[in-house]
Amino acid sequence: MTTTVQTDFHTPAASGLLLEKIRSKQLTVGVMGLGYVGYPLALTFSESNIKVVGFDIDENKIADLCHNRSYIHSIDKSRLKTVRENGFFTATSDFSGISACDAVVICVPTPLTEHLEPDLSYIIETCKAIAPFLRGGSLVSLESTTWPGTTKEVVRTLLEKESGLKTGKNLHLCFSPEREDPGNKKFQTKNTPKLVGGVDKTSTDLGVELYSLICEETVPLSSAEVAEAAKLFENIFRSVNIALVNEMKVILDKMGIDVWEVIHAASTKPFGFMPFWPGPGLGGHCIPIDPFYLAWKARESGAATRFIELAGEINRAMPKYVVDKAQDCLNEYGKAMKGSKVLILGLSYKEDIDDMRESPSLELMRLMEEKGASVDYHDPYFPEIPSSRSYQNFAGRKSRPLSNGYDCFVIATKHSCFSPEEILSHGVPVIDTRNFLPRKENVYQA
Ligand SMILES: NC(=O)c1ccc[n+]([C@@H]2O[C@H](COP(=O)([O-])OP(=O)(O)OC[C@H]3O[C@@H](n4cnc5c(N)ncnc54)[C@H](O)[C@@H]3O)[C@@H](O)[C@H]2O)c1
Repeated sequence: MTTTVQTDFHTPAASGLLLEKIRSKQLTVGVMGLGYVGYPLALTFSESNIKVVGFDIDENKIADLCHNRSYIHSIDKSRLKTVRENGFFTATSDFSGISACDAVVICVPTPLTEHLEPDLSYIIETCKAIAPFLRGGSLVSLESTTWPGTTKEVVRTLLEKESGLKTGKNLHLCFSPEREDPGNKKFQTKNTPKLVGGVDKTSTDLGVELYSLICEETVPLSSAEVAEAAKLFENIFRSVNIALVNEMKVILDKMGIDVWEVIHAASTKPFGFMPFWPGPGLGGHCIPIDPFYLAWKARESGAATRFIELAGEINRAMPKYVVDKAQDCLNEYGKAMKGSKVLILGLSYKEDIDDMRESPSLELMRLMEEKGASVDYHDPYFPEIPSSRSYQNFAGRKSRPLSNGYDCFVIATKHSCFSPEEILSHGVPVIDTRNFLPRKENVYQA
């Protein structure tokens, strides 16, 4: 379904001009931040024959793009090559190029500080970097996940101060959350409804027009704050339900009941139930992090966030639960964790993607090494562990093949290239956190 937009532009000529450019596809879109969100988004605009300039501070990414090298595994380099050859995509670290853009989409990281508080420094730096080059009448859309109020309180304030432009007059600003589900073959940018909330009605309308160029359905909202809160709610919903199913796993295991069979059984109910699956803990840039953004902002208004805190607590306890299970398993073979050789299968936080941010596999490695085990990993998506903020000491370690030289395997991620037969052929006991293997004597659910 395509949303028909009833735009009612009685605002200054600036917005009329932009509207005309969008509708005739004669605009240039700037994408700030070419990571997991910005890079595919830039390609999607380019593939719709819209001129895109991609910006990033990471010179390696720019060099890769300029040489048709695709640094995200699921994006084929032929897509990049085609849009570059057709003249619809260029990439640069020179932000003065913003002056050629009619719309700028911000897709920079929103991590947490070491005290688990929102870190908006990337958004702030980006605003400061683009403001001097912003054209009068342009549209800025923030896609980075953040607390409700950021677009108005932080982005608008900075852009207006540093550019001299004014929202409602010659600057348009909206929030439109990215809902990318990496590796999802069914839902991508085009067929995932796009929420758009502007700081004023004209900004919402222009945002809807912009995203209608690449999305089948756009959903205009009454404000940027509603869009910001909706994105957080979606991820908190997942975090809470994953925590619930992880708690069910622990309870049912003690009762000798198979949680996976229980979930499958409950899923046969055609209404009022939606399955979530247990695992070794939360991973990725979103689910483990985003709930803290709302919790932090809620404190300001004195609201309690009990579900959010509890879900975080349960999910964060999962790697330790898995390690305890591995310890029990080794015990059965007369071995201690200390001195055992363990191979973790899967480093990515979910199957079939090359993203290990916040992956519970890394925490499993850390916990088992703390107990004296010697831990290797096996993951075709990561021949070598890249540098990461929290697990820097693992950087440079290399993926090892499956072999019978290990005391146990731990399946942390069920990449579809893994073969149950091959895993079982080594005769090594396996801790299976993903229900990947058939029930066998030496397979332990965790
Ligand atoms: N990855 C996902 O699946 C996903 C899904 C939905 C929402 N999000 C949100 O989208 C945002 C971006 O996430 P991501 O996964 O693409 O992050 P990422 O780390 O993969 O990419 C961010 C990019 O921004 C660049 N960057 C940092 N500062 C910059 C600056 N000042 N100017 C230009 N570029 C800059 C980085 O070099 C990097 O290439 C985050 O807020 C995240 O929470 C991510």
